[in-house]
Amino acid sequence: MSPQRTRTAVLISGRGSNMRSIVEAAQKSDFNASIDLVISNRGDAAGLAFAQSKDIATITIEHKAFASREDFEHEIDAVLRAHQIELICLAGFMRVLTSWFVQKWSGRLINIHPALLPSYRGLHTHERALADGVKIHGCTVHFVVPEMDEGPIIAQAAVNVRDDDTADTLGARVLEQEHIIYPMALDLLAAGRLLVKDNCVRIKEAHAQDQALRVPRL
Ligand code: GRF
Repeated sequence: MSPQRTRTAVLISGRGSNMRSIVEAAQKSDFNASIDLVISNRGDAAGLAFAQSKDIATITIEHKAFASREDFEHEIDAVLRAHQIELICLAGFMRVLTSWFVQKWSGRLINIHPALLPSYRGLHTHERALADGVKIHGCTVHFVVPEMDEGPIIAQAAVNVRDDDTADTLGARVLEQEHIIYPMALDLLAAGRLLVKDNCVRIKEAHAQDQALRVPRL
């Protein structure tokens, strides 16, 4: 294990496949983040069982149990602080966060979105990409800002769109890429290698290693 791994929480609402890819990446000794907490806003989130199987602390904070979004987020924030969390990955966390929470965690809160932002913000990205006939689609890891699906872009990966694609087949290929770029982006953030200037992210000491349509190429 690297000496000072950055304590990280992953927030999920469901399947948790991105959380799983992050947890598995963090098992490598040279990964710069440790996954110390998984929070779900739903007790039936399938991803919780995987995290528990890896002896990661899991907590369900049901949003429905709180009178307001702010109350819900104050509870999340308190739990994060109790676990000395430094970074947060949103991974299929299906709650919109308020400016209060986002600003509190500014620069330490990242998200994965299943499209090449700034195209296809919001839901049903694969269906909309197919309906538009785009030839290239993909996924994006970005810093979270109060505006939904905006914020400085850390990493993106592209996949080609095939003539016979359905939302499911296209989404499955995009998901494979999500599982590659999300751990990569977290590792860079945890290592302190991301510089944000004028809404753009630059990576310290980046070097090309492969020719994949995946940026950054490290
Ligand atoms: C992923 O497609 C991610 O891009 C989006 O929500 C989905 C979550 O999937 N934000 P999973 O729970 O990580 O499997």
